[in-house]
Amino acid sequence: HMPVNVDISHLSPGQQIVVTWQGRPVFITHRTPQALVRMQQADLTRRLRDEHSSDRQQPPYATNWHRSIVPEYGVVVGICTHLGCVPAYRPLPEGTGGDDWPGGYACPCHGSMFDLAGRVFRGAPAPYNLPVPPYSMPTPATIRIG
Ligand code: FES
Repeated sequence: HMPVNVDISHLSPGQQIVVTWQGRPVFITHRTPQALVRMQQADLTRRLRDEHSSDRQQPPYATNWHRSIVPEYGVVVGICTHLGCVPAYRPLPEGTGGDDWPGGYACPCHGSMFDLAGRVFRGAPAPYNLPVPPYSMPTPATIRIG
């Protein structure tokens, strides 16, 4: 398989693009500063099944709270770890307050929810966090998957 190079220079904060890698959708997300704060807040993290990603669903360089090489960009395989549906991107709501949705992904099939690092919330049928594929950043504006 050839690696897939993705130019992320035009991906605005809050936007996601979906690329295909080995026949699978990969979500590349430009996380906002607000999202990075939200991902670390205790009222969110205590709802996660595997906050520290001990499930080995990611390479060693993504075994951290943001599950990525740099916090600003998320890279996850967009296949629900329950039965394989493609979760929908639901970013953090604009502004603050009102909606307690923490930002992340919602699976349309059986309701599993994941945060913006692909970490699954407790109570979901999905048993594991969304996998992080092997990837590198040969330049600050390029993500190379595979
Ligand atoms: Fe996603 Fe079942 S396939 S919750």
